[in-house]
Amino acid sequence: MASLRSSMAFVLHVLVFCFLFHGSSAADQEQITKVCNRVPPKDFTFCNKTLFEDPRTPAATIQGLCTIASGLSIDLVRDTIDNIDGFLRNSTDPVINERLEYCRKNYASAYDDFYNAWKASLNNSFVDVVNSVRSGTSRGIDCLNGFRKRQFVETSPVAEMTYELVTFEGIIFSITQELLPSNGISEHGTSRGSLVGTHMIYILQTHTTLDGAKRTLQEIEGPPLLGLEE
Ligand SMILES: *[C@@H]1O[C@H](CO)[C@@H](O)[C@H](O)[C@H]1NC(C)=O
Ligand SMILES: *[C@@H]1O[C@H](CO)[C@@H](O)[C@H](O)[C@H]1NC(C)=O
Ligand SMILES: *[C@@H]1O[C@H](CO)[C@@H](O)[C@H](O)[C@H]1NC(C)=O
Repeated sequence: MASLRSSMAFVLHVLVFCFLFHGSSAADQEQITKVCNRVPPKDFTFCNKTLFEDPRTPAATIQGLCTIASGLSIDLVRDTIDNIDGFLRNSTDPVINERLEYCRKNYASAYDDFYNAWKASLNNSFVDVVNSVRSGTSRGIDCLNGFRKRQFVETSPVAEMTYELVTFEGIIFSITQELLPSNGISEHGTSRGSLVGTHMIYILQTHTTLDGAKRTLQEIEGPPLLGLEE
């Protein structure tokens, strides 16, 4: 299963190489800075580093950056699934197993969501990108929340990876703000409402919820969790 997913990822990456590099000008440092200035400040360095260091970036347009970030999210979701499988193999605690199985199911659906986002980015359907990314990310957050239910046993063992997925969501939303018309009128002339404004609010809400979740975990567990300090 893991190797099947790995080879799929390889195919995706080859496809990205074929699709991205034609047409308008490449995304430059200024554009990446602009994109990363819109994510929460604590994520700036990760955003800048991730976009800069991807070998496909120098030749990619801003649409290409959207495809790259979606592809990197697919990789992250795949790695998270592999980790969940590893924890499932080791765990003998029925409560943890049940929560891990719930995560496994959620992340399998998140994989489809991010794959759909990736496809939509190739088709310049950025409203669909936003909707798929939002759906996939919330499935990851549901996994995290599954571990916070009553009968607290432990924090989600993939919590860090879920936080990273939320960071990618912010990066992708920020990139789509460069691509979606800010007046809410799509390129096909259909009014979609004020999508950009709505999604800014949504990003802030997601982060507020997550920050709350981190605080709650710290209260339950006493000492701060590694990597959760802002
Ligand atoms: C973003 O990363 C690049 C490459 O590491 C670096 O040269 C640049 O200074 C960074 N930008 C900011 C604003 O930190
Ligand atoms: C599972 O257990 C093996 C053997 O104890 C260990 O090497 C491995 O790191 C564990 N994997 C996870 C994901 O905990
Ligand atoms: C690509 O976008 C066009 C126009 O929005 C749409 O009709 C078509 O179904 C899309 N194709 C895919 C594969 O999503």
